[in-house]
Amino acid sequence: MWTFTTTIVSTLFVVLLATTTTLTLANVGSGSNVNIGLVLQGGPDGTKEGTENALALQGLKDTCLPFLPTGSGYQYKSCTPHTYTPQSETLGAYSGLIPSKTGENDFMMALGYFPSKAIQTAANSNGNKLFAIVDFEFTPPVGNIVSVMFSEDQIGFLAGLIAGEVAKSRGGKVAVIGGVDQPSVRRQVNGFGSGVKIACSTCIAYGLYSGTFESDPKLTTTVANLLTDRKVSVAFNAASIFGTLTLKNLTTQQGIYAIGSGSDEWVTNWAYGSVPGSEHVLTSVQTDYTVLVRSVVQSVLRANLTGGGTVFYGVNTDMRQSAIKLAPAHEAGGVYTKEVEEKLRGYVKDLTMGKLTTGVDHKSGNSRSSGSSSTSVQLLPLTDRSASSSPSANNNKSTDYDENTIPSSHRSEASSNKGNLDRLGRLLFSPVGLFIACLAVQTLDLIGP
Ligand SMILES: *[C@@H]1O[C@H](CO)[C@@H](O)[C@H](O)[C@H]1NC(C)=O
Ligand SMILES: *[C@@H]1O[C@H](CO)[C@@H](O)[C@H](O)[C@H]1NC(C)=O
Ligand SMILES: *[C@@H]1O[C@H](CO)[C@@H](O)[C@H](O)[C@H]1NC(C)=O
Repeated sequence: MWTFTTTIVSTLFVVLLATTTTLTLANVGSGSNVNIGLVLQGGPDGTKEGTENALALQGLKDTCLPFLPTGSGYQYKSCTPHTYTPQSETLGAYSGLIPSKTGENDFMMALGYFPSKAIQTAANSNGNKLFAIVDFEFTPPVGNIVSVMFSEDQIGFLAGLIAGEVAKSRGGKVAVIGGVDQPSVRRQVNGFGSGVKIACSTCIAYGLYSGTFESDPKLTTTVANLLTDRKVSVAFNAASIFGTLTLKNLTTQQGIYAIGSGSDEWVTNWAYGSVPGSEHVLTSVQTDYTVLVRSVVQSVLRANLTGGGTVFYGVNTDMRQSAIKLAPAHEAGGVYTKEVEEKLRGYVKDLTMGKLTTGVDHKSGNSRSSGSSSTSVQLLPLTDRSASSSPSANNNKSTDYDENTIPSSHRSEASSNKGNLDRLGRLLFSPVGLFIACLAVQTLDLIGP
C-alpha cells in the first residue's frame, strides 16, 4: 500500500507519494542554460486566442527567458523554450512526437490525458530527465514525472460558497451537475457541498452524476426536470458540455442561476451575453493555464520541482498566483453582488491560509467530513436514465482523466451541435474513447514502477 504524506504550503498542496526516486534537473549544471519543451494539444485550433494552448504558451513565454532575472532564486543563467504540436489529439500522435524530442530538452511537459502514454514512455527511457503532465495524474506516481493538477475540490468549493450565498435569500436549494462519476468530478461535487454548508448552513445542496460530458438532449431534459422539481435556484456546471447545455435550458426555461466552469462561460458559451439566459450566469470558476504553467516553469528554474508525485495549484489571494479564479458577474451583478464578491474574497483568504478546508479526500474524491456518508451533497438518482442515449460511464477506477482536455477533432462536432459551444478545450468522451482510455491507463499502471 502507498502511504500518503500531505504537505500544505500556502495554496500549493504537494502530495508526495512514497517513492524511491525523486528527481529535479539532475544533469543541468547550475548557471547554465535550460531547455524546456512544452507539448501543446493537437488539432486545428492550434494556439488560437483564449484556448488552453494559448494560455499555457503564454505561461512558458513569461518565464523561460534568454536572460533569466537574478534575485528570483533561479539556478540557471538562461532558458530556451521549445514548443511542439502533434497533428491530432490522439495517443498515437503524441507517441510519434514526444520520445523523439526528449533529446533536445532538459524538461518536458504536456497537457491532458492523450500525451500521458508518450510521456511515460519517454520518462522510462530517460531516467535522468524530468517530465510533467498537466490535468492528468499518474497513480501510482512515476519517479521522474510530476503530475500537475488544478485543485478540483477548490473549484467546486468556490462554486458552493457562491451558490450558498446567493440562495440564502432565494429558497435555499442549490445543485451541482456532475459529469462522469470519477474522482476528478467527485472532488468538485463534494467540494461544492461543503462550500454550500459553510456559506448557508440551512441550504440544501443537491448533486447528480449525468454519466457524460457530452451533449445529450434527453438527459438534459431529465436533469432539468429533476432540478426544477426540487425548486433549485442556483446550479453549478461540473459536467463540461453536458453541464453547459443543461444550464442553458435551466437559465432560459426556469430562470435558474448558473455558475460556469473552466473558462468564463458568459464569454465563451453565452457568447458575450448574446445567447439567451446570459443574464442568469452569475460567474464562472476559471482555471488559468498561464498561471499554472508559469508556476511550474518557475519551480523548474529554481531546481525545486521534484518528480514522483502530484503538485496542486489552486486559489491564492494574490491574483497573479491564483490558478483558480472567479469571472466577473457581467449581467448578473444584481444577484452576484459586490457584497457576495467581498465575502468570497474573505473565503479565498481563509482557504489560502488553510483556515478553511474543502473536506475532500483527494484520491477518492469523496467527502471526509460528512459523517458516515461519503458525499457532502444529497445525490439525486437519474430516474429517467433508461430513456437516455448516454452511455453509463460509471468509472470507479483511478483511471481518472480530465474533462478539461478536448480532442480538437471533437470540437467541431461540439460547435455544430450548438453554435456557441466553444469549450476552450473540454474533453468530449465517446464510449469508445472511454474504453480505450481505461485500457491504456491500466496498461500504464501495469508498466509503472
Ligand atoms: C428544456 O426545458 C424545457 C422546459 O423545462 C423542456 O420542455 C425541454 O425539452 C428541455 N430540454 C432541452 C434539451 O432543451
Ligand atoms: C520549493 O518548494 C517548496 C514546496 O513546494 C517550497 O516550500 C519552497 O519555498 C520552494 N523553494 C524555493 C527556493 O522556491
Ligand atoms: C463503484 O463502487 C461501488 C462501491 O465501491 C459499487 O457499489 C459500484 O457497483 C461500483 N460501480 C461500478 C460501475 O463499478
